[in-house]
Amino acid sequence: MKGSIIIKNASQLVTCSSFKAKQGKAMSDLHVIDDGAVVIEDGIITAVGKTGEVLTKFEETGSKTIDATGKAVLPGFVDSHTHFVFAGYRAEEFSWRLRGESYMEIMNRGGGIASTVRATREASREDLIESGKKRLDTMLSFGVTTVEGKSGYGLDEKTEIKQLEVMEELDNIHPVDIVKTFLGAHTIPEDFKGREDKFIDYMTDNVMPQVANKNLAEFCDVFCEKGVFSLEQSKRLLLKAKELGFKLKIHADEIFPLGGAELAADLGAVSADHLLHTSDKGIAEMAKRSIVATLLPGTAFSLREPYARGRYIIDQGCTVALATDFNPGSCFSESIPLIFILATLYMDITIEEAVTALTINGAAAIDRADRIGSIDVGKAGDVIILEFPSYKYIPYHIGVSCVEKVIKNGNLVFDKIN
Ligand code: NIG
Ligand code: FE
Repeated sequence: MKGSIIIKNASQLVTCSSFKAKQGKAMSDLHVIDDGAVVIEDGIITAVGKTGEVLTKFEETGSKTIDATGKAVLPGFVDSHTHFVFAGYRAEEFSWRLRGESYMEIMNRGGGIASTVRATREASREDLIESGKKRLDTMLSFGVTTVEGKSGYGLDEKTEIKQLEVMEELDNIHPVDIVKTFLGAHTIPEDFKGREDKFIDYMTDNVMPQVANKNLAEFCDVFCEKGVFSLEQSKRLLLKAKELGFKLKIHADEIFPLGGAELAADLGAVSADHLLHTSDKGIAEMAKRSIVATLLPGTAFSLREPYARGRYIIDQGCTVALATDFNPGSCFSESIPLIFILATLYMDITIEEAVTALTINGAAAIDRADRIGSIDVGKAGDVIILEFPSYKYIPYHIGVSCVEKVIKNGNLVFDKIN
C-alpha cells in the first residue's frame, strides 16, 4: 500500500539530490534546503522545496501532515551489504576472538560460516522468517528503508533457495524493501573440502541456473579470499553469473590483498565490498570503471582489523557506500549509528560523505540510484525524520539512533514517540 503525506517546516531537508552515484568530491554535496518541505503522493515524491513555496502549490487538506519544526529530514538509509537471514548465533566465537583467536583460525577448524550453515540448513522457513522479521524491525528503527540480503548459509541447492525464498516472503510482509543476492560461494562446505573447483562447478551448473530461473536474486556475490575462493575461481563463477543475467558483487580483499578490487573492475561489477587491504592499483581501477566501493567499518572494528582506507579511496575519485555487513560472525550488528561513528572517527570520512554513502551511494551499490536514496521528485517516498535539527547529530550522538520517524513509500512505519 502506497501512502500520501506532507512533511513541512523541516529545519534541514537533506535531499542528497541525485539520480546516480556520487563519486569522489561530489560526495560532499548534500543539497540541504533550510525550512524544507516534501510532498509524497501515492508513495512517490511529488514536490520538494522551501515550505512556503511547496505549500502554496499543495493543499494540505486531505493529506496527512507532519510538522518537522526543529528536525532534520533525510532520505531513508540504504544498507547495501548484509547477511541477515540465518539461524544460530556465534557468541562463543566472539569470546574466542577476544582471547586472541582469529576469524580465519576459527573458520579453518570448522567454526565460522560453517557453523551458521549447519544451523541454517536445519532451520524451518517459519523460524527464518520470524528471526528475519525481528532483524528488519531493528533496521527500520535505525532508519533503514531498503536492505540488501545475501544467501550463503546453505551452500547447497535446497538451503540457498530456502534463504532466498525467505527473503522474498519477508519483502512481501515487511515495510523494508529487500534486494536479494545469491552468495552460494560463501565458503567451501565439508563435503567439497579440497575440491574447490568441483564446488564452483556445482554452483554454476546446478544451483545458479535454478536461482536465475526462479528469479530469486538480482545479484551474485562471492567470498574471494585467500583460503576460500581464489581469483580464478571467483572469476569463473562471476562470469557464469553474468551470462545468466546477474549483476555482480565481490567480497574483496577483506583479509588478504588478493586482487578482488581489480577483478571487480575487470568484470564491471556493481560493487566490490570490504576492501580492507586493497592496493592503490585496485582503487584506481575501481574509480576509473565507476565500481562502487562498499566499506564495512563495523566488520574491521569487530575483527580488530585495520579499517579500509576510506579517505584515500574517496580522494582517488571512487564512489563509496557504507553498510553494516550485519551477519552472525564478523559483525553482529544492524547499527547504523555505529557505522557513522566508525567511518567519521576512524576512516576520516566527513559527516557529509558518510550521509551520501548511506543514502544515494548505498542505492547505487544495489543499482537503484534512479529510484531511491535521495529526496527528489519521482523517487520513492522513503524518508526519515531525526529528533534533532541537523544531520550533524548523527555521529555526534555516539552509538545512539537519532531517528524519530520513518516513512516508507509515503506511509509512517516507525515512530519513536508512539
Ligand atoms: O562479509 N566474509 C565473508 N562473509 C561475511 C561473514 C560471514 C560470517 O562470518 O558468517 C563477511 O564478513
Ligand atoms: Fe559480507
